[in-house]
Amino acid sequence: MIYQQPLPSPYPTLDDAELTSRIVAAKAKLGDSVVILTHHYQRPEIVALGDMRGDSLKLAQFAAAQEKSKYIVYCGVHFMAESADILKRGQQVVVLPDLGAGCDMADMADADDVELAWDELVSVLGHESIMPVTYINSTAALKAFVGKKGGVVCTSSNAENIVRWSLEQRQAIFFFPDQHLGRNTCKRLGYTPESMLLWKPGVPLGGQAPERIRDSRIFLWEGHCPVHAMFTLKQISALRAQDSAIKIITHPECPMEVVDESDAVGSTEFIVKTIAESPAGSKWAVGTEMNLVNRIAKENPDKTVVSLNRFMCLCGTMNRIDLAHLAWALESIVSGHPENVITVGEPERSLARASLDRMLTMS
Ligand code: 13P
Ligand code: SF4
Repeated sequence: MIYQQPLPSPYPTLDDAELTSRIVAAKAKLGDSVVILTHHYQRPEIVALGDMRGDSLKLAQFAAAQEKSKYIVYCGVHFMAESADILKRGQQVVVLPDLGAGCDMADMADADDVELAWDELVSVLGHESIMPVTYINSTAALKAFVGKKGGVVCTSSNAENIVRWSLEQRQAIFFFPDQHLGRNTCKRLGYTPESMLLWKPGVPLGGQAPERIRDSRIFLWEGHCPVHAMFTLKQISALRAQDSAIKIITHPECPMEVVDESDAVGSTEFIVKTIAESPAGSKWAVGTEMNLVNRIAKENPDKTVVSLNRFMCLCGTMNRIDLAHLAWALESIVSGHPENVITVGEPERSLARASLDRMLTMS
């Protein structure tokens, strides 16, 4: 996690009403020169002040196409702001209101560790036989490594297409950092869980025997999302026992046994749309972050929408972006000295861009 210095006075002492009016005033001063992007997991008061909300793919596509605004204030996590900086068209400045808003899963795949693992895998399978695929929830350094090796980025919206394509190009794939998205996606494509090898970082050959490596096509980095790890099969059984009409909808970062038992699985945008388009009276238990579940419940008063885990599953890092940080970030832009500017330098930028571009052309 990158350190965020404490906010200067007076931001920590201002109440929500004061902070909101300062944000509205800063936005009015900046006009079209600023656009505020909000991920679906953001706090409700932040989403209310944003110009656009979406999942990782939608927001990345927006950043890649956006020409009007000089400043992109990204209310999301660090890898998302980095991706926006890599994909931006011109001289835009990308700002992340709190530098501590990282992603625990992205932090589980350090690019140097991946490079060591890659060399080991190549020593068994040979060069040119493995396609590296990284989930967008990864650092720019890892995207750059993947880009250098001719690999590709995916999101939860397009993982199936990207993985299918990757397995058509090369004999095997090495998927980072989310073992669950990798496993769930490959299973959907017809591969058995037993045929996929889990690669333990820091362990020689990832803890696998060379013979098994030679026989395998799918290697999954041992990373996961701590928020989605909180959903279990037991929760599904308990809810279904209470009400057989309830439908389970989950994010593909959930463990395989949870995804296998779900009625629908997809990205945050997919979850929003699926519930919005379901008939009045439908009942849903949702396996994803709590801010989003609460918002869906509010926006669909004609349906029953609850969390699959009745004990809150908030993404603590997403939640670091609050009114005080947003007000501070916007006012720093108004003052002409933007704070928390996210910049990916060369050669990382061009290499990471190659892996992101491959994804965008296939999305
Ligand atoms: P989405 O791309 O589905 O929004 O997922 C991002 C994420 O971080 C989920 O934990
Ligand atoms: Fe990362 Fe999980 Fe938070 Fe998504 S919910 S940003 S994967 S820690």
